[in-house]
Amino acid sequence: MLTRFFSMVLVAGLLVAAVPAQAQTKEYIGAAKCKMCHNKPPQGEQYNKWASSAHAKAMASLKGDEAKNPKCLKCHSTAFGLTLSDTQTITVAEGVSCESCHGAGSAYKSPAVMKDRAKSIAAGMIIPDEKLCKKCHNAESPTFKGFDYKTYSAKIAHPNPAKAQ
Ligand code: HEC
Ligand code: HEC
Ligand code: HEC
Ligand code: HEC
Repeated sequence: MLTRFFSMVLVAGLLVAAVPAQAQTKEYIGAAKCKMCHNKPPQGEQYNKWASSAHAKAMASLKGDEAKNPKCLKCHSTAFGLTLSDTQTITVAEGVSCESCHGAGSAYKSPAVMKDRAKSIAAGMIIPDEKLCKKCHNAESPTFKGFDYKTYSAKIAHPNPAKAQ
């Protein structure tokens, strides 16, 4: 019994030691932080496009107690369910925002990382695909009307016209 206790302590110690010192937890920073760099019209003003989309207004669709119901919030808000540290600036009110699709931004938001696509992906940036959309666009949604990726992604498209596609 005692030996087993000590071996468990040892295993726990090894696990702690195995975590690299510079391991970064990826935190959600909120759409306003992305806006600083992603709202210039010649580069596609991604923030404005998102802000005028249904995703930014997803919390407005929840009436009364629905806005406190975890069963609705899980798809209608990026920030729902996160344990937020003091440095995280995201709010439930912003609805389905950038980081629901592109991943928590704290580790990729710096210019040096962002300029380099491979580095951004390594730091947690996601290039969204159909599978990601279907985490929310599925029959569990009480108002589900089906999901066609081509049609739906065209409705929310926010490409950078300055980049050769
Ligand atoms: C300090 C400025 C800055 C901030 C803050 C920033 N970005 Fe970027 N981002 C860039 C630059 C520069 C690029 C490279 C040029 C481009 O693709 O537009 C880029 C590229 C991207 C790309 C394109 C990746 C690709 O190659 O297809 C995505 C997606 C992206 N950013 C999302 C975000 C999101 C989401 C946030 C907020 C969580 C964010 N960025 C915050 C500057 C920034
Ligand atoms: C975190 C959950 C979530 C993810 C991920 C998500 N969506 Fe949505 N989407 C929603 C919610 C919630 C709404 C409804 C917002 C409202 O009107 O209240 C919505 C609405 C939309 C609408 C508007 C539909 C209409 O009837 O006008 C489009 C288009 C759309 N999403 C496309 C996409 C695409 C494309 C992807 C993947 C690239 C995606 N969504 C990923 C939750 C999500
Ligand atoms: C599995 C994810 C998911 C859950 C859970 C969810 N929703 Fe949604 N909701 C969506 C998506 C995606 C849309 C937009 C397109 C659609 O209807 O499929 C949406 C759209 C809506 C709309 C706008 C309807 C319209 O198209 O005009 C309302 C209202 C809504 N949801 C209410 C709720 C309520 C209330 C709950 C909780 C009881 C809830 N949703 C739970 C994903 C979800
Ligand atoms: C509903 C999911 C969704 C949301 C929310 C969303 N994006 Fe995107 N974003 C996408 C998809 C899908 C693409 C296209 C990916 C590809 O290249 O196939 C994309 C592409 C981009 C690109 C690359 C454009 C290019 O042509 O190089 C940038 C930059 C970007 N998003 C920034 C943002 C920012 C900033 C926000 C919030 C203000 C945001 N996105 C919100 C799904 C989303």
